[in-house]
Amino acid sequence: MLQHDESPTAVEAREKAFILGTYARTSFHPRSGKGARLFDEEGNAYWDLLGGIAVNVLGHKHPRLVKTLRDESSSLLHVSNLFYHPAQGLLAERLVRASGLSRAFFCNSGTEANEAALKFARLANPNRPELVALQESFHGRTLGSLSLTGHDAYRTPFAPLVPGVHFVEPNDVAALEAAVTKQTCAIFLEPVMGEGGIVPLSDEYLAAARRIADRSGALLIFDEIQCGLGRTGTLFAFQQSGIVPDIVTLAKPLGGGLPLGAVITGAAIDGVVKPGHHGTTFGGNPLACRLGLAVLDEIQEKSLLTKVTKDGAWLGGELRALQSRLGATIVDIRGSGFIWGIELDQKAAPVQKELLAKGFVVGTARDNVLRLLPPYVTPKKAFIEFISALEATLGAAREKAA
Ligand SMILES: Cc1ncc(COP(=O)(O)O)c(C=O)c1O
Repeated sequence: MLQHDESPTAVEAREKAFILGTYARTSFHPRSGKGARLFDEEGNAYWDLLGGIAVNVLGHKHPRLVKTLRDESSSLLHVSNLFYHPAQGLLAERLVRASGLSRAFFCNSGTEANEAALKFARLANPNRPELVALQESFHGRTLGSLSLTGHDAYRTPFAPLVPGVHFVEPNDVAALEAAVTKQTCAIFLEPVMGEGGIVPLSDEYLAAARRIADRSGALLIFDEIQCGLGRTGTLFAFQQSGIVPDIVTLAKPLGGGLPLGAVITGAAIDGVVKPGHHGTTFGGNPLACRLGLAVLDEIQEKSLLTKVTKDGAWLGGELRALQSRLGATIVDIRGSGFIWGIELDQKAAPVQKELLAKGFVVGTARDNVLRLLPPYVTPKKAFIEFISALEATLGAAREKAA
């Protein structure tokens, strides 16, 4: 076998030469992990408070996932969607029963889940050419999902997009009311907006969206790709709002790190999707579905949602206490469970870089928000250490600015 130089310098040089430039990668080289820890090529340890952007809810190298991968890969990796295998139906049953909706469709990513949801909505609600979504929403990068994404920088280079999408301010009931008409096919909402800066939609807003959808005949579609599967403390984020959407989309953590997305549909879609309307070669493959079942089993058996709720409430309190200590440096703290945004009075990227140097992997959203999407298995100690590192970093930045 050919031996390759896998030093960080060689890895980066090879990428620069051969990989299309879609990503502005950080020069960080995680090579292994355990629980909420990542280790780089020199063996330095980091607390992973980003979890592969909301994917690694069980942390890294989880024994249950490793065993499931071994067991399933020794039987079948792929069968196609022409034939049956048990894992897809088992996972669908779990998601359907947990959500109270009626059926599931599996794909490979978040953007594909939203594409499928859009197609299913068109089938169920024909002759309604318009869609309503939120400013600063993020639903994915393929053309349909991009058309629903309320962020001009992502959209503009790829025009023309799907026509008829109206964008409204989040949490503004009157604006939603005005935008939704008898021409509206569907309303797309993220119950907690992720890329948009961790902006939770209020229960009142979600209830109003349900009312407005019912009144106009539009479908209500929740994108829970980032905020779902336990992230807010309930398996589905909508379960805290008291209302039920017509469709929910999922992805990120669903496949335990393998590509897996899902569309869970309710009564409004029953009977409208027929063979040939939609499909995918890989979607819902046995390996990813078995991992999905393992993720759900582990969340349930280890009561991880109780931990997310309890530790998340405590973390929110600690972040707000930090905000009071630091004054105007922290503009806002938003979130719940294990999804938090720390809005700064400065650009977030340099702070993120400084935190990485101190051993903490965190994300950003918009220009000035630090984003935390930690694994559900993260110990409190990691958050305590993070808050003290953040306090030191922001304190030093303030002294430098003074
Ligand atoms: C809310 C939301 N929807 C859709 C997507 C797109 O998912 P994917 O990157 O798997 O296509 C993302 C990804 O960040 C997301 O956060």
